[in-house]
Amino acid sequence: MAVAIIGGTGLTSLKGLEIQRREVVHTPYGEPSGPITHGVFHGRDVMFLARHGYGHTIPPHKVNYRANLWALKHLGVERLVAVAAVGGISEDMEPARLVVPDQVIDYTYSRSHTLFEDDLTHVTHIDFTHPYDPPLRKLMIEAAERAELDVVPHGTYGATQGPRLETAAEIRRLRQDGCDLVGMTGMPEAALARELGIAYAACAVVANWGAGLRSEEITMEDIEQNLRLGMERVRTLLGELIPTV
Ligand code: HPA
Repeated sequence: MAVAIIGGTGLTSLKGLEIQRREVVHTPYGEPSGPITHGVFHGRDVMFLARHGYGHTIPPHKVNYRANLWALKHLGVERLVAVAAVGGISEDMEPARLVVPDQVIDYTYSRSHTLFEDDLTHVTHIDFTHPYDPPLRKLMIEAAERAELDVVPHGTYGATQGPRLETAAEIRRLRQDGCDLVGMTGMPEAALARELGIAYAACAVVANWGAGLRSEEITMEDIEQNLRLGMERVRTLLGELIPTV
């Protein structure tokens, strides 16, 4: 089964990936964030794509999610592991922790969010009751256990538009809505994967507490520091996970 990883902020390249080649894919939806990297990771063939571009220049609302997902599908990807930085809202979502979310609430707007809108022979509604693929989530949680990583095995991801961080009141509203974590890239990525029939699960890395929850201000230095530790943990998790998917 062909497997791919989409890396987010803090994971524009994957240490330990023996790169074999890079492939440019043109899609009906425009250009993906960059060429798809083909390589071997812990003995397993894998594809890798940096969501924000290899130079980290594409902000969350400008990512061409449709092209990214279409390109991966075109290359035969059946299982996709997405890595994403998030803000923590619930008590157990502390900075540098890993979370395997099981639900999403979508607050994004003005993003091209579906492949099912033009040239349709019939209107299509995907089932999205469980937005993350349960078997892939299970493999991820088991891999974390084997690696003795402290992972929160559930959580509702609130997807916001960005690129700015939230106001304190927005975080209060997200919490009231039932969101445990907040990020800017979870949607429409998860829904497009489902539309394409790709099994998709996410590993979220908490970069900071949500606005107003702990500090007066969220600094980029704090975020970067937490992400450095968190992404080390992600690499450990992926090393354990990828050979099993
Ligand atoms: N909010 C939204 N997205 C994020 C955050 C946040 O606080 N931190 C990292 N990505």
